[in-house]
Amino acid sequence: MPDNLRVELGERSYDIKVGDRLLATAGTLIAPLLKNKQAIIVTDETVARFYLHRLTNSLEDANIRYRCAIVKAGEPTKSLEAFGELMETLLEYKPERGTTLIALGGGVVGDITGFAASILLRGVDFIQIPTTLLSQVDSSVGGKTGINSKWGKNLIGSFHQPLMVLADISTLSTLPKRELLAGYAEMLKYGLIRDEAFFTWLEANGRSLIDGNPALRSEAILNSCSAKAEIVAADEKEHGLRALLNFGHTFGHALEAETGYGDKLLHGEAVAIGMIMAMQTSVAMGICPKADLERTLAHYQACGLPHSPKQIQDEWNINALMDHFTRDKKAKDGKLTFILARGIGQAFTTQDVDSGLIRDILAQACSA
Ligand SMILES: NC(=O)c1ccc[n+]([C@@H]2O[C@H](COP(=O)([O-])OP(=O)(O)OC[C@H]3O[C@@H](n4cnc5c(N)ncnc54)[C@H](O)[C@@H]3O)[C@@H](O)[C@H]2O)c1
Ligand SMILES: [Zn+2]
Repeated sequence: MPDNLRVELGERSYDIKVGDRLLATAGTLIAPLLKNKQAIIVTDETVARFYLHRLTNSLEDANIRYRCAIVKAGEPTKSLEAFGELMETLLEYKPERGTTLIALGGGVVGDITGFAASILLRGVDFIQIPTTLLSQVDSSVGGKTGINSKWGKNLIGSFHQPLMVLADISTLSTLPKRELLAGYAEMLKYGLIRDEAFFTWLEANGRSLIDGNPALRSEAILNSCSAKAEIVAADEKEHGLRALLNFGHTFGHALEAETGYGDKLLHGEAVAIGMIMAMQTSVAMGICPKADLERTLAHYQACGLPHSPKQIQDEWNINALMDHFTRDKKAKDGKLTFILARGIGQAFTTQDVDSGLIRDILAQACSA
């Protein structure tokens, strides 16, 4: 039986189910939620190869009619152009208002499917079946959807909550180790922002979880989803608390933009490095003990997470990186918002960061 968690959002509340081999029963689990028994599965070529048949079999068992839209794997699928093609495919399938979209895949598939669902026929329902660690602990929960612009990542999007999230941990068995680690970074984020006890648990169990222990994976995914669910329930549209989830992301997004959102630097890797830079900023401002930064770095080392931009490429353009900050969605009245930490488990939002200091931190990090 799957473990169950609820995201409390009034009439938009929904369940997150985490368990082994959930895909086999997905049809039965989602059937009661569908307005009509008609679905369009959106997935990417890689995930389709591994898991599409498991999902279609279970939809057939539950008498749910379906069509499939298969997109190319990878971040370029979040371009306006690729998204336009997806919308045309969805419309070609003659969806009705009661049709439900099912996102089967990682964060890319989840983000485009959620966004498509929010605007297709002015809005249809959708279900998340995340298949990467990153999407299971982060992107599938919370209702942020979107695509990229040449001006930056996720600048076009909407809030649209899914009807249900089904995280089948058996799908992680085919996930490349590098992708797994990138997801682990987002998991670690929950410990770093609000939960030192979870960070300590990950220090003890992170390595075995990464190596494949299913019980530890389930426990950590549930814990992460419950951290995210609690934050989203308290602040769905990111007026306050939810901003903490962007810990490491302001730095991370700038690095990603500079490397072109590609294989060179995965989102989770950028976040891993960004979280260290946020801690370095906090230490430099004298608000975070250096020992907490060192403890975090030691755990990165133990699990093989990247900690410095220098590990990604030798040369970085500091002016270009600074320029990305000013475009960040979190900028308010032109002032930069940063998420810093007073220590492990104690993140907070501030606009009180000197841009000269940020430049120094970037310059140091990019040369260390
Ligand atoms: N909406 C949100 O709240 C939110 C939060 C965090 C990240 N994101 C977005 O999520 C995206 C990153 O997500 P991701 O890391 O899951 O990337 P992804 O969706 O690109 O998946 C990574 C790669 O793994 C492959 N893959 C997926 N599942 C697999 C499996 N089970 N076995 C083997 N291969 C598999 C995919 O085909 C892809 O090549 C970014 O675009 C980011 O902006 C969104
Ligand atoms: Zn992220």
